[in-house]
Amino acid sequence: MSRSAHPAGPRHADVLPEGHYSPPPADLNALDEKVWSRTVRREDDGVVSVGGIEVTKLAEEFGTPAYFLDEEDFRARCRAWAHAFGPDADVFYAGKAFLSKAVVKWLKEEGLNVDVCSGGELSTALAAGMPADRIAFHGNNKSEGEIRRAVEAGVGRIVLDSFQEIARVAHIARELGVRQPVQIRVTVGVEAHTHEFIATAHEDQKFGIAVADGSAAEAVRRALGHDSLELLGVHSHIGSQIFDMAGFEVSAKRVVRLLAAVRDEHGVELPEIDLGGGLGIAYTSNDDPREPHEIAKALTEIVARECESAGLRAPRISVEPGRAIVGPTAFTLYEVGTIKPLEGLRTYVSVDGGMSDNIRTALYDAEYSIALVSRTSDAEPMLVRVVGKHCESGDIVVKDAFLPADLAPGDLLAVPATGAYCRSMASNYNHALRPPVVAVRDGQARVIVRRETEEDLLRLDLG
Ligand code: LLP
Repeated sequence: MSRSAHPAGPRHADVLPEGHYSPPPADLNALDEKVWSRTVRREDDGVVSVGGIEVTKLAEEFGTPAYFLDEEDFRARCRAWAHAFGPDADVFYAGKAFLSKAVVKWLKEEGLNVDVCSGGELSTALAAGMPADRIAFHGNNKSEGEIRRAVEAGVGRIVLDSFQEIARVAHIARELGVRQPVQIRVTVGVEAHTHEFIATAHEDQKFGIAVADGSAAEAVRRALGHDSLELLGVHSHIGSQIFDMAGFEVSAKRVVRLLAAVRDEHGVELPEIDLGGGLGIAYTSNDDPREPHEIAKALTEIVARECESAGLRAPRISVEPGRAIVGPTAFTLYEVGTIKPLEGLRTYVSVDGGMSDNIRTALYDAEYSIALVSRTSDAEPMLVRVVGKHCESGDIVVKDAFLPADLAPGDLLAVPATGAYCRSMASNYNHALRPPVVAVRDGQARVIVRRETEEDLLRLDLG
């Protein structure tokens, strides 16, 4: 979400509230490459294409609403992250952003690892052939069943989130006769500049073990005391959709200080630190995300500097980007159903999806961009609110959008940057059928997650 979200939004195109984020774009037909995936372009006939296929054709073949994922862009982002961090670090893609077997296969081919946070994500990663030692298992309340499966599968690390979990994983590993590699998730006391619900390193929230009051040091003591655990290091994830590197720097410093304290107390230099994910992406033209190489440079330098001053060997760094890899690679395609101009208020444009395929606007006040993609238009910009088809007035797709005034039912609209946390947080509210994810590459489109059907819904309903 952009940090420039404003609370209520304007009512008219001509009455923008003070501080409104932007006037109408100079050219409504232009596509800002910052928010669209790599292969998206407007063709000579005015229709937008991805991977060489026009959206009108995609809508005809796959229907709407649907997510279209630019495979070339996804792979390029994986490579950029892997390259930026180099062979002495590890990049774990955060599966919660969006996970499917095809995605796992691409990750494997591009040399990335995967972070999972549930039995469901673990089974998807394993089913698609990700080697278990390239899987990290997260979560603040993993069930015993999930822990057992993870240990049996041989996951490369389990990230321990509480004192109970240290004992639980140690017990299960002992039972299974395994020495399980683990990290300890710590909270470093950083207030990340993002939405409250997705900030995770301040003390008053459910994740991790606090550094400040000595709890993290105690957790290390306990983990080192179990022969069935191999303590690899500590983990810190400060939140999501963050643009400012300062929070990561403070986090890295505090984590390194903890490693130094562990060395002083136990004579052990833990070999790894994980600095989590959370790097922001551009949802609108106002957002300015950092490139992977800038992030890698900043993090590597700060860790090296801190280690040097503490007299520690630099640990192996890992990171867990989710949104920054998959977010920009997909757009959601909708068809306009109704347009309702409310005199003196605002114009509502209803599309055939909504909060069931993108809950982020309702949940976090997230901002998105949107464009007419089935044709160009020379009409004046009109300020509208794009809404879904759910029985709820908070069912907003884009709060304030400029679209051409000649917009009509049947037109196709696309919302870019919906690759992360849209399909993965989709619901069946109002018995909506969750849309498919279609991967597009070099003129070929392939369904990687199919559209739900009414039979799927009825199959779960035992009457
Ligand atoms: N690592 C850990 C331990 C995490 O908890 C998360 C995200 C990530 C990595 C990946 O963060 P990313 O790079 O994708 O920002 N549903 C929210 C985001 C919640 C993220 C939860 N954890 C949203 O739609 O913005």
